[in-house]
Amino acid sequence: MNPLSQQLNETIRQDNPNIYAMLSRLAQQIYFPKEGILSQSAEAASKAKAFNATIGIATEGGTPMHLRVIQDSLSAYNPKDIYPYAPPAGKPELRKLWREKMLKENPSLEGKQISNPIVTNALTHGLSIVADLFADEGDVVIMPDKNWENYELTFGIRRGAEMVYYPLYNEEWKFNSEGLRDALLANRDKGKAIVLLNFPNNPTGYTPGREEGQAIVAAIQEAAEAGMRLVVVTDDAYFGLFFEDSMHESLFGNLASLHPNVLPVKVDGATKEEYVWGFRVGFITYAAESEALLSALEQKTLGIIRATISSGPHPSQTFVLHALQSPDFDAQKQEKFNIMKSRANKVKSLLDSGKYGDVWSYYPFNSGYFMCLKLNTVQAETLRTHLLNQYGVGTIALGETDLRIAFSCIEEEHLEQLFDTIYRGVIDLTQ
Ligand SMILES: Cc1ncc(COP(=O)(O)O)c(C=O)c1O
Repeated sequence: MNPLSQQLNETIRQDNPNIYAMLSRLAQQIYFPKEGILSQSAEAASKAKAFNATIGIATEGGTPMHLRVIQDSLSAYNPKDIYPYAPPAGKPELRKLWREKMLKENPSLEGKQISNPIVTNALTHGLSIVADLFADEGDVVIMPDKNWENYELTFGIRRGAEMVYYPLYNEEWKFNSEGLRDALLANRDKGKAIVLLNFPNNPTGYTPGREEGQAIVAAIQEAAEAGMRLVVVTDDAYFGLFFEDSMHESLFGNLASLHPNVLPVKVDGATKEEYVWGFRVGFITYAAESEALLSALEQKTLGIIRATISSGPHPSQTFVLHALQSPDFDAQKQEKFNIMKSRANKVKSLLDSGKYGDVWSYYPFNSGYFMCLKLNTVQAETLRTHLLNQYGVGTIALGETDLRIAFSCIEEEHLEQLFDTIYRGVIDLTQ
């Protein structure tokens, strides 16, 4: 094994042997090279005053070489903030500002030890780093039955982990923390599990209330006390879009410092929060008790980044940084929040109006981009294709009964027509 990975492993083992035991075989092997091209270039950047002939970019007139056809459309930005490689961990100013934003929006993080967020190629990449570092063949990944389908590819297909599902809602239509607890304890013999928490939830648009959040944390604590080692991932893709009286913070804050057997990992990013889906800017952040341990986890993460994408896109990091620095950022974000909230409220008032009878019910929702209908009289896939072919209306069928509606992309004044059309589709199929 490479001495650098050995050293990182030793630090992790010394500071928390439970976290060491959570590492995949790949995570044990991986390291971020200290003496390779990147570090020699970094050294040259500060010392090579005559000529810096280190890294594989091209320069001209003291700036990164570039084509006018590209720069003309990006003229608001300095070439140095667009063309060179971003550091593998991301632009330092962006990481700093994202951390500050996270602390401001999650007061429960106060006094907790967390790493600096590391920039990822958006959330999917953050999740795949978690999978690389902590999932081996046969490890269990525990999540609600209503979840983002890509988890299956990231953890199941790509890393060979076993997906374990529990019903998202309990009989009172609240978050089923009892189900989470049972799923955890049913896998106690495995000694280890990855827990995926995603609020606001895709596809239902549900975020638990504060008490439900405490019950989730208590379930995790109970499993940790029973000896399970748990990597608990908060996928905060839709963070901030909380329209009602649910939790308004990530559970990452409550999970930090919970138990030595729990490693909280926050996966978040600008994608959905800042409405920049194609930018591919996300972050991965760890909570652990020691700086040395956090730094070792960061090095392992950088090893994966270096081995896969080498570094994330520089222009989009610059764009997001620029937005975060702007005095108009908060006001503009609030404006968009209000639009999304208005749409969610409109959907709820339509569904509660009684005009659609009992052809469907809907899963409780209070946040995010989506809501899900539970169809009572027709198959979801049959309705989906009928709506598409007959009315040109696109929805997502999930399982036998569920139809996901992204109200995020329907203007408020069109929502009534949308739901009326879906209703008409149901009636067509049942007459
Ligand atoms: C719950 C959830 N997590 C992660 C992602 C992926 O986000 P990104 O586009 O930043 O990779 C999505 C995208 O749909 C999502 O719904």
